[in-house]
Amino acid sequence: MDKEEYINSIKRVIISSEEIQKKLIDAGKYIDNLYDGKPILLVGILNGCFVFLADVARNVSVPCEIAFMAAKSYFGTESTGEVQITMDIDRDLSKYHVVIAEDIIDTGRTLKVIHRILKERNPVSLHVVTLLDKPSRREVNFTVDYTLFEIPDTFVVGYGLDYNDYYRNLPYIAEIG
Ligand code: IMP
Ligand code: MG
Repeated sequence: MDKEEYINSIKRVIISSEEIQKKLIDAGKYIDNLYDGKPILLVGILNGCFVFLADVARNVSVPCEIAFMAAKSYFGTESTGEVQITMDIDRDLSKYHVVIAEDIIDTGRTLKVIHRILKERNPVSLHVVTLLDKPSRREVNFTVDYTLFEIPDTFVVGYGLDYNDYYRNLPYIAEIG
C-alpha cells in the first residue's frame, strides 16, 4: 500500500484519542472496585490488544501482572468463524484473578473460545473488558462484563485494530473504506 492510498483509506474518526482516554479512567475504576486491592492478571489477546492493554494497565491501581495469548480468527474483513490459539499463557491460572482485555467483540466467537479455555484452568475469577463491541454482529451468545464503546456494524481500525496489519498505531479509532 502506498502512502496516498494509506491516508485516503481513512474515512473518518469515530472515536478520538481524548474520548478513549476519558473512558479508560472509568474502566480503571471498574476494575479497581471489582478487585478491591487484590492482585490481578491482565490477559491480552495479541495483536489487537497491545495498545488497549497498555492503557488499561496504566489506569488500574490494584497490583497487576500482564500476560499475552494470540489467536487467529480473522482474514481481511470477514470472520471465518475459526479460532486457533497460536500463543498460550504459561502460568498456573488457579492462582489469579484474571481480566481479559479485548480490543473488539464482533461475532463473539474468538472470545467465547478463549473464555472457555481460560475458565477450564480454574482462575480465582474471570472477567472480560472490551474496548469495542459490535452487538449487532453477534453470532454466539457471549456476555462481556465491561464495554468502553458500542459501535455499529462498520469495520474500524486504529488504537491496536488493524486492516491487514496496518493502522494499529493510529491514536484514534477510524472507519476505513
Ligand atoms: P470475533 O471472533 O468475530 O468476535 O472477532 C474478533 C476479532 O476480529 C477481533 O479480535 C479483531 O481482531 C477482529 N475484528 C473484528 N471486527 C473488527 C474491526 O472492525 N476492525 C478490525 N478488526 C476487527
Ligand atoms: Mg485483527
